[in-house]
Amino acid sequence: MGLRNKDLISIHDLTVGEVATILDVAKKLKRKQKRGEPHRYLEGKTLAMIFSKASTRTRVSFETGFYQLGGHPIYLNDSASQIGRGEPVRDTARVLSRFVDGIMIRTFSHDSVIELAKYATVPVINGLTDLLHPCQALTDMFTIMEHKEVLKGRKLVYVGDGNNMAHSLMYACAKVGMNMVCASPKGYQPDPEIVKNAQEDAAHTGCTIEVDEDLFRAAKGADVLYTDVWASMGQEAEQSIRQEALGDYQINKELLSVARPDAMVLHCLPAHRGEEITEEVLEGPQSKVFDQAENRLHVQKAIMALLMTDDII
Ligand code: CP
Ligand code: NVA
Repeated sequence: MGLRNKDLISIHDLTVGEVATILDVAKKLKRKQKRGEPHRYLEGKTLAMIFSKASTRTRVSFETGFYQLGGHPIYLNDSASQIGRGEPVRDTARVLSRFVDGIMIRTFSHDSVIELAKYATVPVINGLTDLLHPCQALTDMFTIMEHKEVLKGRKLVYVGDGNNMAHSLMYACAKVGMNMVCASPKGYQPDPEIVKNAQEDAAHTGCTIEVDEDLFRAAKGADVLYTDVWASMGQEAEQSIRQEALGDYQINKELLSVARPDAMVLHCLPAHRGEEITEEVLEGPQSKVFDQAENRLHVQKAIMALLMTDDII
C-alpha cells in the first residue's frame, strides 16, 4: 500500500486499505518485538518530535518505538526550541526537513499541523491536536481487534466529551466498519462536520456513526465502552463547568451492565477516576487500558515504518 512519504494527520485521509495495512504491520512488528527479532527498518534515520502540550504515552512510545526501529528520535518542546519564541511553523517545517526524516507533532491548533505538513518535505505525524488524536484511535482499533478479532459490525460507545478522541474514533470506526455511538450532552457533542465526514465513510463500509444524548440508550449492547477526560489539555479553566455538564457521562458498573457481558472498557489515559470512569471499572476485569497503552508503541512503529521506508515486511 502506498503510505510511503505521506503524512498521518487524520484517519479520514486514509483509505480503508491503508488503515488495514497499518493494523497488519503493527501486528507483525509487535510479534517481532515480543520474540526479540530484529526490525531495524529505520536504521540511520532521525525523527523530530515537537511537543507543545504535555505527554507521557505519546512521547515515550514514539521515542522508544523509533529507537527500536533503529532510528534516533529528537525531542523538542516550546521552551527549549525557537518554536516557543514564535518562529513561524512554515520555517520550522522547512528547516527540520533539511535535517530529519520525519516529524511528529503534538500541539493545540490543528491548522498548525496542516501548515507544518504543507511546508515539510518529510512525513508529518499528528500526535494530537485540539481536533484529532489519530495515532490513539488507530491503536484503539488494533487493541479491539486483538481482543475481539473482528471489528466489522461491532459497536463502540464513546461516553462524554465530544473531543479530539471522539472525533478520531468516529473516523477510525467508519474506516473499519464498526458502529459507533457518541453519547454526549448538548453543548459537548462532536463537531458536526466531523460527524458528517465519518458518516460518509461509514456509508461505504456499511456501519453507522451516531450521536445520542441518552447515555444508557447508547450503551445498550456495546462491545466496547470508551471514555476520555471531561476537560482536555488547554481546557483546564473550564474544569468545573465541564464537570457540571458532563457529570452524568461516566463509565461505571451500572452503565457496564447494559453493555454486552463481554464488553471491553477502553480509555486513552490519563484517567480521572471518579469523573469519567470509576476506579472499580478502570481497575476491573473488563478494562484493557494498559494493553491499549502498550499498543501505542506497536501501532506507531507501523505508522513510522510505513511512512518512512519502502523496506518493510
Ligand atoms: N493517550 C495519550 O496520548 O497519552 P499522553 O498524553 O500521555 O501522550
Ligand atoms: N482529550 C485529551 C486526550 C489526552 C490524550 C486531551 O486532549 O487532553
